Parts: sequence; C-alpha cells; structure tokens
Amino acid sequence: MAKTDANANGEASLPHKRISLCGKEIYIYREISSTNSVAHTMASDGAPEGTMVMSMFQTAGMGRMKRQWVCPAGKGIMMSMILRPKIGVQLVPQLTLLCGVVVAETIREVTGCAAGIKWPNDIVIKGRKVSGILSQSSLFRGAPEFVIIGIGINVNQNDDQLPPECKETSTSLRIELGKRVSRFTVLEQFITIWEKHFQGFLKEGYPYIRTNWIKNNVTLGRYITINNSNNPNVGVAVDISERGGLLVSLSDGLPEEFLAEDLSLGSTYYKINK
Ligand code: BTN
Repeated sequence: MAKTDANANGEASLPHKRISLCGKEIYIYREISSTNSVAHTMASDGAPEGTMVMSMFQTAGMGRMKRQWVCPAGKGIMMSMILRPKIGVQLVPQLTLLCGVVVAETIREVTGCAAGIKWPNDIVIKGRKVSGILSQSSLFRGAPEFVIIGIGINVNQNDDQLPPECKETSTSLRIELGKRVSRFTVLEQFITIWEKHFQGFLKEGYPYIRTNWIKNNVTLGRYITINNSNNPNVGVAVDISERGGLLVSLSDGLPEEFLAEDLSLGSTYYKINK
C-alpha cells in the first residue's frame, strides 16, 4: 500500500500547467516532492484512469528498494500515471512489466539507441540504466483501488549531472546519442505506445505482456548467481511469470520463481536479499 507524504495534499492543488495530450490530462509541476505522491493524492480524490502528473524537479523522488531517484531540474522525465485496473493485487506487477516494454520501445523509437529491459523494470542501454519504474498500489477490500506507475527517464543529463554513485552504472539519452533529446517528443511517443500496448493487454491479458516483454528484454538467457546460502547457485534466467517474477533454471532442478522484492540484479549477477 502506497503512502502519500504530508506535503502532497497541498502540492497537488498547484500545478504550473495542465495540458491535454493524446487524450490524457497531464498536470505539470515545477517542483514537488514526488510525482508518485501527488498522483496518489489525486487518485484518492477521484482522478480518473489515465491522469498523469509530471514535474521538472522532485525533492523526494522515490526509487525501488527504498532508494532515491535523483535528477537535476529539467533534465529528465519524471512522471506518474494513474490506473484503475480490475485485476487482483498479485497481478499488478504485470502493469509494471508492460510499462517497461513501453519505455524501451519509446527510447528506441525516439533515439534509435538499443534500449532493453533488465528484469524487473530497469531500462538499460549497453548495460547502463537510463530509466526506472516504481509502481505503487492502493488497496480497497484487498483489491487494487488504483495503481500509480511512476517512471523516471534520464534524458538530457551530461556525465557530471548523474549522481556520483551511479556514474559507472547509469546513462542518459543525451550521453548515448551525443545530442539533446526533446523531452516532449519522448512524452508524446510514450503516450502513443502506451495506448497501443495497454489496449493489447486489455484484450489479450498476460500472454500479450509476456510476448512483448520477451521481445524487449535483455535478461533471459543470461547466467545469474543466487547468493542465498554459503553455496551460491548458478542458473539461467529462462522466463517471467504471471506475477512478474523471474524464472531461473538452477543447476539442480526445475526453474524457480524469484519475485522483484526478493532478488536484485547487481552489475554482474543477481543476488538474493537475505
Ligand atoms: C527505480 O528504478 O528505482 C525506480 C525509479 C522510479 C523513479 C520515478 S521518477 C517519477 C516517479 N516519482 C517518484 O518518486 N518515483 C518515480
């Protein structure tokens, strides 16, 4: 269950701009704590599915595993989308997988760079992270009342503008392409591609996501090491599951499922969190 920070209630009422783009209402802020927090407040107040929140800067951008998402003002895309899916809570990670597909395709379309998905939802170019996705759900009687999908994309940072601790592992579209990239074009493409894939998902369900995730991923087929005991177990990532888990074929038997909260992908191999 997502929590909203105390500021978000006040912040939500002060957008710098409100635009309509490809059928979506987008609330654009100059500076807020986190687009996920403000989107959460707006969803609690009844904002419809598809409403989006963007900000030029976040003072408390959130990443997965309690990490922060840091991006200088105006250099990246920081946005959150409100969804109201009629699915069980255990299937919410499917929407994150779908969003990963959309971000990878958007980046390839706009820049031509070979962006791919590193499980569960990092988008990488030549192994370096360029985008991350953080989904948060609010439950009502055990079912998702709404889901917030938060997307951060490094667009126009140069090397010096990436967080020092991420310099070796992150990149931006500008660094990869060698020239500035229009954030508006990225946004427009994202919405167009999202609409196409979301309709596909509504029609065909999980098989649609699996097919498209497999097309866009750079994880399956790789050797990984699971460090959950004194004897690290090496396996090969072979598939994803309906719950958004990674199926790993270990040397000693059948594929085992790992969920995103239990496994994190280091730079060279996966490590189980214990
Ligand atoms: C990750 O890779 O750890 C996920 C990062 C998600 C960052 C985005 S930026 C927009 C949205 N608002 C947030 O506070 N977080 C997400």
